[in-house]
Amino acid sequence: MTADELKIAVARAALPHVIPGDLLGVGTGSTANHFIDLLAAEKIEIAGAIASSEASAARLRGHGIKVLTLDEAIASGRRIPVYVNGADEIDPGLNLIKGGGGALTREKIVAAASDCFVCIADSSKCVNMLGRFPLPIEVVPMALGLVARELAKLGGVPKLREGFVTDNGNLILDVAGLKIAEPALFESELDHLTGTVTNGLFARRRADLALVSSADGVRALHA
Ligand code: A5P
Repeated sequence: MTADELKIAVARAALPHVIPGDLLGVGTGSTANHFIDLLAAEKIEIAGAIASSEASAARLRGHGIKVLTLDEAIASGRRIPVYVNGADEIDPGLNLIKGGGGALTREKIVAAASDCFVCIADSSKCVNMLGRFPLPIEVVPMALGLVARELAKLGGVPKLREGFVTDNGNLILDVAGLKIAEPALFESELDHLTGTVTNGLFARRRADLALVSSADGVRALHA
């Protein structure tokens, strides 16, 4: 199977988790894009989607799927029972690295607002310890040098993502060289670096369920 076929297979496996008539959190990236396309193709009627990026919102609208802001969803008094999104790395505890597409801040916000986070990925994303994929960190532009210096003190090798500005008007540092043995602890430590908006560790709010595709099929991993 090609990489794309594996992404389509796992995106399809997420469809039964969508609750018709309810709100749905929708992620960002190539796997999430397949999920959006399948959601539309299968004509699953939802009350509306809360998107984790402008790109996903545009794709949803392009299919005629209603998109709500998170504030509109909250004002409606409805819950977001399910959130479907990809990941860059998944460890056995369902802690994740996300943000390869640069949407980490909104992705983390939608994760925090959702009851069940269903992560969809192919098996190449599974690792024993997070850190092989450079950890994305969204940084306020003025603080770039300061945050990079502090990350280097923590043993990382930060690199500016050239030519990229987030949906929130900020920059991304991709941090290589990290071996993240205690993801939740490290996530908190990074949260305390002044000038960072969000780090791409999803450990304190990890996935509840991971659907992972390989040539053998799709398996479900539970937290
Ligand atoms: C977007 O910012 C990311 O967190 C994506 O969810 C992640 O990079 C996975 O993307 P792919 O599905 O394209 O691999």
